[in-house]
Amino acid sequence: MILAAGQGKRMKSALPKVLHPLCGRPMLAWVVDQALALDPERILIVVGHGAPEVERALEAEGQRARTTLVRQEPQLGTGHALQCCAPQLGRKGAAGRVVVLYGDMPLLRSDSLAALVALHEERAAEGAALLTARTRDPRGFGRILRGENGDVRGIVEERDASAEERAIDEVNLGVYAFDGRQLLEALPLLSKANDQGEFYLTDVIGTLVETGRPVAALPIDDEQETIGVNTMVELAAARSELQARILELHMANGVYVEDPATTTIEHGVEIGAGTRILPCTVIRAGVRIGSGCEVGPFAQLRAGTVLENGAEIGNFTECKKSRIGAHAKAKHLAYLGDVTIGAGTNIGAGTIFANYDGKAKHASVVGKNAFIGSGTVVVAPNRIGDRATTGAGAVVTKNADIPAGEVWIGIPARQLARAATPRRKRATKSTNRKKSAP
Ligand code: UD1
Ligand code: MG
Repeated sequence: MILAAGQGKRMKSALPKVLHPLCGRPMLAWVVDQALALDPERILIVVGHGAPEVERALEAEGQRARTTLVRQEPQLGTGHALQCCAPQLGRKGAAGRVVVLYGDMPLLRSDSLAALVALHEERAAEGAALLTARTRDPRGFGRILRGENGDVRGIVEERDASAEERAIDEVNLGVYAFDGRQLLEALPLLSKANDQGEFYLTDVIGTLVETGRPVAALPIDDEQETIGVNTMVELAAARSELQARILELHMANGVYVEDPATTTIEHGVEIGAGTRILPCTVIRAGVRIGSGCEVGPFAQLRAGTVLENGAEIGNFTECKKSRIGAHAKAKHLAYLGDVTIGAGTNIGAGTIFANYDGKAKHASVVGKNAFIGSGTVVVAPNRIGDRATTGAGAVVTKNADIPAGEVWIGIPARQLARAATPRRKRATKSTNRKKSAP
């Protein structure tokens, strides 16, 4: 069960908290991945605030089919969220294990969740196991209360805690494995007698202890894993940690990242070994980059971009939904939007593919081994043939369709007359073209 119904008041944002983006996908998508890693029979997601948006986001991430959404309306606390799931469990669920994840804990590693499930199995199958952490800054978290013998006695929320309890540095991470039957028995017993007047899931732990059920805690060491996102500052901290993990994976695959601190590579990017990513580069979700490429410094590769092996995108170049052929280059100050560029083509500094006419986007194609001169504007839609050349500053008007091998210059661009060479017989397409530009 993933709890994702809260508004996230502390975010001070109109977007439902769990939809705030982290490395190119909503926070909730990371948590659904955590659940999937446990290979569960079912994933229930408790939704409420912004439920239709949450559902659309899950669809966009391809996760909707794996999940069942449970409406919680109004949102009366984390315990109430699970009360809403109870009818879904029925007899079958009651016999099984229920793992609870909070939608705002996107950094938990699947290893930690697997260890929690193992602990539940071994030591607390008739009760609950939960993840805790000892942290230098417990602020905001529920504190773990332990008895004389060190056993967990319960959890107290910070706002309900005494000064003494607030000094406890072991905190609740909001991740639990419950025996389904025990959970269903404890949920109706929750009360709203607390500072927020909410039903707290955390009180289930105290109830289990009181009724003599085993409760085991698993402290985890990595503080980064324990970042809970309640504010924009915590969102930024979570992003930075997820980013570090993504970069580490690429580096482990043989990608050279010169300066991880200034490199953004979102979720779901493929990069071949031997590719070099230079500083201050932004690579958005879903981009695919082959081997032996170079990207950056100061480059942006947006959604739908593909770089074939050996392609090079240099400084202040933006690619959007474009395919850059093998060993093609756009090294300086270019905008490549909705364009397919053939192998070996060189895109000169300052080239712009003007893909937007104010109403719709249009695509262009450049062939192999073409040479696009500096400062060329190609107005889309357009086709530029293999080995064609444009002169510096040429404006290739829409549908000009430069044939293979031709040289075009000027504004609007026309085929360059070559006095010394007799005119070749032209293909039908270009027979009615005007005489060459000056
Ligand atoms: C909760 C825990 C706290 C723990 C912390 C870890 C409770 C009472 N407290 O506090 O012990 O240290 O998480 O991050 O559980 N939600 C719902 N429905 C609701 C309320 C919340 O689905 O009615 C969801 C939220 O969307 C969120 C999650 O539950 O994803 C946690 O809620 P939040 O308000 O962030 O709880 P915390 O105050 O962080
Ligand atoms: Mg929280």
